[in-house]
Amino acid sequence: MKPLTMLSAATIIAAITGCSVSNDFTPVAGNSGEEIFSNACIDCHTPENGYIYDLSPERANVETIATIISKGEMVMPAFPNIQGAELTAISEFVLAKNKPVKSEEETETASE
Ligand code: HEC
Repeated sequence: MKPLTMLSAATIIAAITGCSVSNDFTPVAGNSGEEIFSNACIDCHTPENGYIYDLSPERANVETIATIISKGEMVMPAFPNIQGAELTAISEFVLAKNKPVKSEEETETASE
């Protein structure tokens, strides 16, 4: 079996069993969050109306996003090779592309 075939089989098995897989994507040092996103994430996360993510308020912070990227969860693969400045850059990019939470007061309260 070719290594590539084995990798695909592992990916399929992991997807079926629900454990996260590891992605060996390694960013170029100094890459921006946007560059990393268009190389490693865009296949699965499609921008929609300018936003990409719809994180709950508890998860919408750089620290939690960095953990999701490093460890993965369910179908979302882990990216152990995205680290340091690049991990911060991609996490900040994700946060910047997160859909803002609509507060119900917004419609009633006039801007101050
Ligand atoms: C193989 C497809 C795939 C790739 C590649 C991928 N993701 Fe994901 N990601 C998912 C899926 C599916 C989910 C949601 C369900 C889950 O957690 O498994 C998810 C969830 C997430 C979440 C949590 C979203 C939420 O609403 O809680 C973040 C943040 C995230 N991904 C960031 C990234 C970043 C950044 C990259 C690139 C470095 C990336 N993903 C690459 C499939 C992928």
